[in-house]
Parts: sequence; structure tokens; C-alpha cells
Amino acid sequence: MAGSSTPSSLMAASLFAATLLLSLHPSNAQLTADFYSTTCPSVSSIVQTVIQEALQSDPRITASLLRLHFHDCFVDGCDGSLLLDNSPSIKSEKDAAPNFKSARGFDVVDQIKAAIESACPGTVSCADILALAAQASVYLSGGPYWTVLLGRRDSLTANQAGANTSIPSPFDSYNNLVSKFSAVGLDITDLVTLSGAHTFGRAQCKSFSPRLYNFTTNGGPDPTISPWYLTTLRKLCPQNGDSSVLADLDPTTPNLFDNHYYSNLQRNDGLLQSDQELYSTASAATISIVNSFSFDQSAFFKSFARSIVNMGNISPLTGSNGEIRCNCRKVNWS
Ligand code: HEM
Ligand SMILES: *[C@@H]1O[C@H](CO)[C@@H](O)[C@H](O)[C@H]1NC(C)=O
Ligand SMILES: *[C@@H]1O[C@H](CO)[C@@H](O)[C@H](O)[C@H]1NC(C)=O
Repeated sequence: MAGSSTPSSLMAASLFAATLLLSLHPSNAQLTADFYSTTCPSVSSIVQTVIQEALQSDPRITASLLRLHFHDCFVDGCDGSLLLDNSPSIKSEKDAAPNFKSARGFDVVDQIKAAIESACPGTVSCADILALAAQASVYLSGGPYWTVLLGRRDSLTANQAGANTSIPSPFDSYNNLVSKFSAVGLDITDLVTLSGAHTFGRAQCKSFSPRLYNFTTNGGPDPTISPWYLTTLRKLCPQNGDSSVLADLDPTTPNLFDNHYYSNLQRNDGLLQSDQELYSTASAATISIVNSFSFDQSAFFKSFARSIVNMGNISPLTGSNGEIRCNCRKVNWS
């Protein structure tokens, strides 16, 4: 092994390590906390003010806005592609299966964009607005604060097919959930932590009613729903009833960002199959993470701040790629 640590082999090894790091986090270093500190110093407070106003008439809006950031980032990175409407050249991600008649809050994103445009025209991207709105929404709902990294630019295209396949489904198996997160560079700690966003907001009966009826091979419900919760959900979502009726994702504190999501899972009161699987899949590595967040809210909050920054770093457009859209719903000059 005599020649194994010559300067050139050391250099090759560290180059290799650096390349590996870069390829795992392709643009981590390019987003910064102070990106708008001279060009739009009031951007965070504008975002927060508009959301606070919207909260007066819609207690669900913070949850809906947080979800938009997730659905943006999982499809070709955090690039505002979700926000583009249909046009002759755009097949909107809003019509993809996970979003159609489900993703909401686009009107509030427009209000935020309008307020920012009047303070700092042509400066702040729609992708960054989603990241800032996610942070303000969690904070205003009692959750953790974190420093948002900024400098994303907006896409010129949408990817409806990508939205159909990359965004996890509530009926995905545990292994599929893990692999859809892993496909965007997120691990099982990120999966368990970010699923904790289901501590607020709503889901439609269609997103979980297959669990309530004829779920097992002998016609029974999903055995990982507690008897109390099964009765409650069957009343809310009768067979052949209105599949758009809403249930609270967290039956204990529906509008609060806290760690009750995890204690719900421990009691078999997770609403979505994809939620309960994190705790009820035999010997899954996620079980101990659920237990630790249920026991310690501050551990959950700390982890959420880390994981949402990880999610926000998924292949953003930076530098001179993409553009700063004037209107989040369409590409400039189209
Ligand atoms: C782990 C995989 C995930 C799956 C399968 C999933 C699935 C879903 C589904 C089916 C709904 C209800 C949609 C409806 O019925 O209209 C929902 C709602 C929601 N999701 Fe997720 N989700 C996942 C992860 C996440 C993540 C990572 C976040 C954010 C960090 C998030 C935030 C939300 C929020 C806040 C709502 C409520 C939205 C509202 O009330 O408008 N979800 N999710
Ligand atoms: C995405 O899914 C929706 C709903 O299932 C479907 O109507 C649409 O054609 C799909 N789009 C693509 C590009 O696969
Ligand atoms: C239950 O599901 C099975 C197989 O998925 C199907 O053959 C059967 O008709 C269903 N029963 C009811 C009552 O829907």
C-alpha cells in the first residue's frame, strides 16, 4: 500500500469526495439567506402580512400554501412550475392527479406576488415566494421558525407527467414513499419529518376512503385504523357519498402546527394510509423516528427546519437560468 497516499492520489480522493457532495446537493451552495437584502428587504414581511390577512377568512390557507411548496419542489425542483396555468405551450401541473381539485391557495400566491411586485418590481421569483410562504405559514400556525434560503428562479416549462409520477400518492406502499423521497435526495428522516406537515390542513374522503371499506382480502377495513376513528370516518365518508367532503388531517388540533401528528400515528389515528404506514409497517426504520417526535416536540421542530431547507434545495434554477416571472401563472412574453 506504499503509494496509496501520494499527494496526487489524495487530491484525486478529495476531488472525488467534492464531486460526490456536489452531485448529492447540486445547488445547495447557490441559495442564500440574504439574496434580496438589498433588492427587496421587506419581502418576508410582505409575505407574512398577506398570509395573515388571508387567514382571517380561511383558517386552512397556511396548510394549503405549505403543500404548494412541496408539490413544486418534487417536480423538477423548486422552480415555480406548479404555478403555471394551461396555455398553448403549457400543460399545467395543476391538472395532474395529485393537484386537480386538491391543490389550493393559488389566489393568495397571486396576492403575495402583486404586493411584492409593487414594492420591488421584477425581483422576486415565484419559486422563492412559495418557499417564503411555506415558512410564514408554519410560523403563523405555531410551528418552528427557520431561515429561508433564497435565489431560486422560475421555470419556463411545466411537467404534468412528472407531477403525476413524482409526487407521492396516499396509497403508495412504504417502500414507494421511501423511494419517491430518495429520488429527490431526501432520506427517511426527511420523510417522517415532512409528513408531520399533516398536523394541519384537510383531506378529501377520496384520499382515504378505500381504507374504510373492503380494504383487506376478506372485505374488512384497514386494520391499522383505531375503532373510534373508523366509526368517525365512516360517518363522514359513507360508501357512494360525496368524495370531496373534508376531514381534518389532525383530528386533535386541526389548525395548529404541533407534534400531535405523531401521537395520532401511535394510536392508529393517522388519516392517510401513507401516514399510518410510517408507524404500522412491520419493523420499519421510521417507527423510532415517529416515537421520538411524539415524545419531543422541539426535536420535531428542529428536524422540520432542517428537512424543509433540504426540500427547498431540490435542484433550483439559479444564476441566469429560467427567469423572474412577472405573473406566477405564465411565462414572460407568452
Ligand atoms: C409523504 C408523502 C405525502 C403524501 C402521500 C401526501 C398526500 C396528501 C394528500 C392525499 C392530501 C389531501 C389532498 C386532498 O384530499 O385533496 C394531503 C394534504 C396535505 N399535505 Fe401531504 N402528502 C405527503 C407529504 C407532504 C409533505 C412533505 C408536505 C409538506 C411539507 C405535505 C403537506 C400537506 C398539507 C399541509 C396538506 C393539507 C392541505 C390543505 O388543507 O389544503 N404533505 N397530502
Ligand atoms: C396526469 O394525470 C391526469 C389525471 O389522472 C391525466 O388526466 C393526465 O392526462 C396525466 N398527464 C400526463 C401528461 O400524463
Ligand atoms: C371487494 O373487493 C373485491 C376484490 O377487490 C371485489 O371482488 C368485491 O366485489 C368487493 N366487494 C364489495 C362489496 O365492493
